[in-house]
Amino acid sequence: MIKTVKTVNLKDKRIIMRVDFNVPMKDGVVQDDTRIVASIPTIKYLLANGARTVTLMSHLGDPAKDAEKAKAKAEKDGKTFNMEAYIKGKHRMAPVAAYLAKKLGKKYSVVFAGEDGCYNKKAFIESQKPGTVIMLENTRFHKEETSSDPKERDKLAKALAEYGDIFVNDAFGTAHRDHASTASIAKFVPVSAAGFLMEKEVNYLEPIVTDPVKPLVAIIGGAKVSSKIAVLESLLKNSAALIIGGGMAYTFQKALGQKIGKSLVEDDQIDTAKKILEAAKKAGVEIVLPVDHVGADKFDPAAKPVAIAGQNIPDKLMGMDVGPKTIALYKKVIVKAKTIVWNGPVGVFEFDSFAKGTEAVAKLVAAATEKGVITVVGGGDSVAAVNKFGLASKMSHVSTGGGASLELLEGKKLPGIEVTRARDCLVAGNWKMHMTRNEAAVLAKALVKALKNGKHRYLVAPSFTLLETVGPILKGSNINLGAQNCAAEEQGAHTGEVSVLQLKDLGVQTIILGHSERRHVYKEDDALINKKVKLALKHGFEVILCIGETLDEREKGKVEAVCKNQIEKGLEGVTPGDLSKVVIAYEPVWAIGTGKTASPEDAQAAHKFVREVVEKLYGPDAARLIVIQYGGSVKPENAAQLMAMADIDGALVGGASLKSETFVPIAKF
Ligand code: PGA
Repeated sequence: MIKTVKTVNLKDKRIIMRVDFNVPMKDGVVQDDTRIVASIPTIKYLLANGARTVTLMSHLGDPAKDAEKAKAKAEKDGKTFNMEAYIKGKHRMAPVAAYLAKKLGKKYSVVFAGEDGCYNKKAFIESQKPGTVIMLENTRFHKEETSSDPKERDKLAKALAEYGDIFVNDAFGTAHRDHASTASIAKFVPVSAAGFLMEKEVNYLEPIVTDPVKPLVAIIGGAKVSSKIAVLESLLKNSAALIIGGGMAYTFQKALGQKIGKSLVEDDQIDTAKKILEAAKKAGVEIVLPVDHVGADKFDPAAKPVAIAGQNIPDKLMGMDVGPKTIALYKKVIVKAKTIVWNGPVGVFEFDSFAKGTEAVAKLVAAATEKGVITVVGGGDSVAAVNKFGLASKMSHVSTGGGASLELLEGKKLPGIEVTRARDCLVAGNWKMHMTRNEAAVLAKALVKALKNGKHRYLVAPSFTLLETVGPILKGSNINLGAQNCAAEEQGAHTGEVSVLQLKDLGVQTIILGHSERRHVYKEDDALINKKVKLALKHGFEVILCIGETLDEREKGKVEAVCKNQIEKGLEGVTPGDLSKVVIAYEPVWAIGTGKTASPEDAQAAHKFVREVVEKLYGPDAARLIVIQYGGSVKPENAAQLMAMADIDGALVGGASLKSETFVPIAKF
């Protein structure tokens, strides 16, 4: 989960905020203010909630590279070139600061921190009146910003970190860059959080890869297969249908043995195209390629459009757009979707004669939005297309990032987003072998009502027989449905067991595994628990892995050895990717159901140790993000003190979860 500014105490805090003000400039004048306007809600929110100062940093173009290119071009054309004037007209932040001031209005004061760069601005920032917005000079004037050497990046990052108590990242467009001001800085400030723009982008784009509302239809276009391989592979996992259009479609058609005339083709990608088609077939994903075309004899806006009725394109023509039959086919596929993601145009929409296909797609997606389908447009060209057709406001979300949105759809982790991730707090009720269906329904209904505005993440785990009753009551609420165990086998002759497939069928999202009662009463060993953990993860469940020492082990000083062993064995073979779906519950056996609770200090020591074990196995980022719950006689009286400890991220509650009067105060600590 990403941490957003909404969960951070901003009162009297200095904010250092990365924005993406990389806007097109001409002669010192802003040409398109979309990105500036997009940052304003976060800036206003920060100030309205008591932030003392908001210092903004951004890059603008790439001064060194752009200027070199322009200089070379001027030399080639025999023109004189004035480097200073060029940079001033294109890369200086002062005009952007002035533009922001105008957009924010008279109530706000915006100052520019000076053309001499981003270093040594602490005194300047601290001399500003509370409520001031300060704009730093273009971060890319310093080579440390983009350096591939982390030590160099850290030098600038440390200087920037001096300007804030809290780092806010709202620069989605640069989130895929591991730069000093986008990611390294987070190491040197106490708190990092995402702004509203970043939050919205992540909330729309991430679920498409992780957990979309199905069926998902992906429309992928654009010129080159080579730049879209990763996104095609990633979207194959969750899509019901994949529409492939634009220049890249011809490579796929050639791979299928169809004639493509003079169309754009990447011969070195034919094998890749074949592999993707094969993978789609295996995964049962429908691939939709053009069935007719609009062609031309040359790539020219003035070229005469020629209708091509079938899949094959005559030798003298090149494909420029899809034809009417293809559009009809798109319509049939798109109406089935509950989520649509669109990246890349399906024709040369920049030329009016060849824009019909892309316009039709834009209209179909807009119509779907109206019917309640989640529609996400990502990537530079398709965004330009929906803007051209005036349909941007008709999409659920139009991404402001090109490269960043593509990388998110590829399933990659983006440095600028990762630094804003924080572990959440999970309060779970383990109902064990209690309650009848009626009692369970009454409790579930009461919890849904009472926790509606709760600020943590919640879960209840009723016994198997109650899942079908409780599941529908929790549906759409902020309480997840959990199971207390699962079989180690997928299916078969296993009398008395319940499988992951059966749990999935009932809507279960989380499975508790290795609970002390399973370990000590039902004698489950680490190997069996590990098998269950891997099976549950394979089927997409969240897993709560319970660990903890007995009284005897504690008295013999074996707390750490026992916990380490249970974690190592329990997580054996669990990939770093799957670890994000694992929660660890530290539950000292002597505290479970006994009324005896570990002291907050003892519990904290154990949790800290657990985190260190995870760090050794999976690295510091995974350790920072893994949720570690405490369990063992958690009650309303002790919940807040326990969960206030640095490494305790929620509770697994048994006895006190059976009544809303005791569970609700714990959940709302
Ligand atoms: P308890 O149970 O809260 O009743 O001690 C905790 C658990 O078994 O998870």
